[in-house]
Amino acid sequence: MTEAVLLVGGKGTRLQPLTINTPKPMVPAAGVPFLAHQLARARAAGVDHVVLATSYLAEVFEPYFGDGSAHGLRLTYVTEDEPLGTGGAIRHAARALTSGPSDPVLVLNGDILTGLDIRGLLLRHERAQADVTLHLTRVASPGAYGLVPTDADGRVLAFTEKPQRPEEIVTDQINAGCYAFRREVIDAIPGDRPVSVERETFPGLLADGALLHGVVDASYWLDVGRPASFVQASADLVRGVVRSPAVPGEPGEHLVLPGARIEPGARIGGGTVVGSGAHIAAGADVQGSVVLDGARIEADARVRASMVGSRARVGPRTVLDGAVIGDHSRIGADNELREGARIWCGTAIPDAAIRFSAV
Ligand code: GTP
Repeated sequence: MTEAVLLVGGKGTRLQPLTINTPKPMVPAAGVPFLAHQLARARAAGVDHVVLATSYLAEVFEPYFGDGSAHGLRLTYVTEDEPLGTGGAIRHAARALTSGPSDPVLVLNGDILTGLDIRGLLLRHERAQADVTLHLTRVASPGAYGLVPTDADGRVLAFTEKPQRPEEIVTDQINAGCYAFRREVIDAIPGDRPVSVERETFPGLLADGALLHGVVDASYWLDVGRPASFVQASADLVRGVVRSPAVPGEPGEHLVLPGARIEPGARIGGGTVVGSGAHIAAGADVQGSVVLDGARIEADARVRASMVGSRARVGPRTVLDGAVIGDHSRIGADNELREGARIWCGTAIPDAAIRFSAV
């Protein structure tokens, strides 16, 4: 049996306003909650029991995912009274695991989309007889992440979380948010206070001489914690750039969910998903975007790389480019909202009120 802990308790502040009423893992990507893709990938890798470590808006997960049987998994929910951070949450969730002390336990951040060969990571973990094995990926701008240099054998040499000085950037390998832990290593994490696995547990293990092994993998990887990357992830899932068994349809340039209405003369593409009950009017052009359930895009609006919240309305001829429109917002006609613009849930913007703004 292979068990996994999935960390889904963060507040998702970088993804606000989408995460005001919905925890980040439940925000839909390619037509289903983002978490559904992670569960499907875990199952495909042979995981049969997943413990969801919940905290923020914990109550919304179980009504959707239930006991997991519809997803081919057994799901257990463990909720923290107070957020315990990534390490504390792993330790807290471990109470629901049945693995023995030497067994490997997979741990996944709830906001990563990756094509990683999870089974391969577990094999490398066993082969290295490591205490913890980390998935590492290479990025062009590593400064915003946790850096993890390794030696020629893959042994981790250091952890530098979000380096402040240029000379600290000694590698382009970053912590990709997927780990195999030996069970007893989890049990040694303090259970009574918040702990960061990245800032405390991993550096502490290294200082104590533990064997931390890094597996550098070049497959698809995206941290969906920011709006632009979340929209990108959804589009990549729709287009099949990264494959997920949970996408409700075949790969293509768009995904239109049952009950959506696309008027003749509207154009949708670039991996756009149109949610159930949403309406795209004639002449509208929607590319590489997420249009959630019940939203309306009016005539001749142009929407690119944006997220339109559920039941939001985008007025005629309005332009969205890299914008996030909160649920139930109403954007009047002839507005222009570009890179970084975020409209809070339920906001009303009159006609022609905003031109080219990062709100
Ligand atoms: P930001 O607020 O935008 O940074 O997002 P976040 O709250 O998700 O934090 P971060 O991206 O650092 O978290 C990485 C992963 O750990 C995500 O999957 C979070 O859901 C999860 N996580 C972070 N803190 C906690 C916590 O206190 N408890 C639990 N159960 N999960 C957590």
